[in-house]
Amino acid sequence: MDVHSSPALVIAIDGPSGAGKGTVSRVVAERLAYRHVDTGAMYRAVAWLALQRGTDLADAGAVASLAGAATFAFDAGSVTLEGHDVTAAIRTPEIDRAAAVVAQHAPVREVLVERQRGYGRHGGVVMEGRDIGTVVFPGADVKIYLDASASERARRRATDTGHAAGRASGGVTQVARALEERDRADRTRAASPLTLASDALYIDTTDLAVPAVVARVMAAVEAALTRSAR
Ligand code: DC
Repeated sequence: MDVHSSPALVIAIDGPSGAGKGTVSRVVAERLAYRHVDTGAMYRAVAWLALQRGTDLADAGAVASLAGAATFAFDAGSVTLEGHDVTAAIRTPEIDRAAAVVAQHAPVREVLVERQRGYGRHGGVVMEGRDIGTVVFPGADVKIYLDASASERARRRATDTGHAAGRASGGVTQVARALEERDRADRTRAASPLTLASDALYIDTTDLAVPAVVARVMAAVEAALTRSAR
């Protein structure tokens, strides 16, 4: 089937940090000529803005107001906030921690989820995050859950040149500890914790190269396109 003349699907890709969501989502979006939305970058950008403005990260209402008023732009892998290119600034260990805190606030999530639904309203989107298939788009056409062993995820994060942890000293052990802490926060928070949607395709990427993961996702997309053509 020619994917370029196909209906505009919503493709949800969830999973923990370092499972490969970013790379896989980008490639799949490119193949389909769909928009790629990295919702983690939105939580990171809000955390960055709160730190810039001296807003108390624990103040859910104040952070939610910032999130509601912020102007985001996502373009070809770069993230712009209020006109500043924050692509590199939001990928530091400090923002890792701050983003995990703001992501726990239900009022912040409400604001960002609304915006995310807006981005996917007309389909044609590959959206990655933690709650895309469970909360943002429970009716998504394709739901993928990417996972990998904790040690492999830490190794990937430590060698990720787009993230400051990959350039910092401290090595994999420190990265692994921080990742574990953040994972626990993401999985155990009261508001939309990271969970596997019952109808998601679970892919363990620990021993898979990117093209193999992309091939599995594309197979699920083709199946959804065939269903929607019937
Ligand atoms: O995917 P990431 O590491 O860039 O995400 C940054 C933080 O935001 C992380 O703590 C998980 C959280 N997050 C979330 O709670 N919901 C999403 N849809 C995306 C990210």
